[in-house]
Amino acid sequence: MPFIIAIDGPAASGKGTIARALAERLGFHHLDTGLLYRATGAKGGDPVAAARDLGPADLARPDLRSSDAGQAASRVAAIPEVRAALVDFQRRFARQEPGAVLDGRDIGTVICPDAQVKLYVTASDQVRAARRAAELGADPAEMLAQLRDRDRRDSERATAPLKPADDAVILDTTSLGIEAAIAAALAEVDRVLRP
Ligand code: DC
Repeated sequence: MPFIIAIDGPAASGKGTIARALAERLGFHHLDTGLLYRATGAKGGDPVAAARDLGPADLARPDLRSSDAGQAASRVAAIPEVRAALVDFQRRFARQEPGAVLDGRDIGTVICPDAQVKLYVTASDQVRAARRAAELGADPAEMLAQLRDRDRRDSERATAPLKPADDAVILDTTSLGIEAAIAAALAEVDRVLRP
């Protein structure tokens, strides 16, 4: 059985950075599942067809990181048929040896409910907005409004809403630097790997 690490949480919580660092240090594969929804939203046209036809070129577009792409992703992500079209790819990815780290909103709850490690990474709204504003060179107040809007949509949708799995470990990065957050995540993996 390959080892699966599921990392969920709201936008700009630090989950992507933590996921990348864990994958690198453990020699695991990493999938940023938000990219699938961003690419689906950016493709335009019928979102269900876009999700079904996603290819490597769609995932390589340089404009996927923008906040507009994030908002579009959040909207198409509420469509159950879009989510269904992306399930198999994510589950196949997760089963690679020696292990995989997937980050998103529904990895621990829906995509990989049997993951050996589940982290729910969160931080205060203000800290998340400040981080994202610094990253994108945007206005923090504008970022805060956008993040809240996106989190509300992601949490309130009927299919696979953003929420911690019952067995997830909550990692609040509000007052943690990135190295401390990575160390806390690694400690949780170690606890499971070497009980
Ligand atoms: O992680 P991100 O900011 O790149 O995600 C963009 C949007 O995609 C997010 O607002 C909701 C959606 N998403 C999702 O519904 N399920 C996932 N597993 C990952 C992302």
